[in-house]
Amino acid sequence: MKTIAIAGSALAAMLFTAEPQDKSDPRDGGPDRIDVSAYPGPQQKQYDVYAAKCSKCHPLARSVNARFNSTEWKRYMKRMIRRPNSGINEEQAAQIYDFLKYYSIQLGIKD
Ligand code: HEC
Repeated sequence: MKTIAIAGSALAAMLFTAEPQDKSDPRDGGPDRIDVSAYPGPQQKQYDVYAAKCSKCHPLARSVNARFNSTEWKRYMKRMIRRPNSGINEEQAAQIYDFLKYYSIQLGIKD
């Protein structure tokens, strides 16, 4: 328990000493693309839709590194496309969801 508390306060110190003008979001760390070269053709096409549409308001990295399962993706997709000016139609949303579901399975993330 004590170790956890120390680690927690070290983390808090790190967060609070960050530059005030640093607007980077910790959720946007990590790779900002997925290597789909080994994915089936249709998934590669859907990846293009995803990469174009889901990098409009935040870096693609946010979803690349999110580690959601398919149920969570379904919920998140609804939340993202409901945003004003998301520019994502129903058909594109279905393709993106199908891709993210496939991606979560590749990562071994279970529902
Ligand atoms: C219209 C702007 C917009 C578009 C387009 C958009 N997002 Fe977001 N997204 C946001 C905002 C704002 C947040 C931060 C607030 C939040 O979490 O709801 C966010 C947060 C997220 C998060 C972080 C959730 C968390 O709790 O860590 C993920 C994952 C995400 N978006 C995925 C996507 C995916 C996938 C797409 C493409 C289908 C997408 N976003 C398209 C605005 C957008």
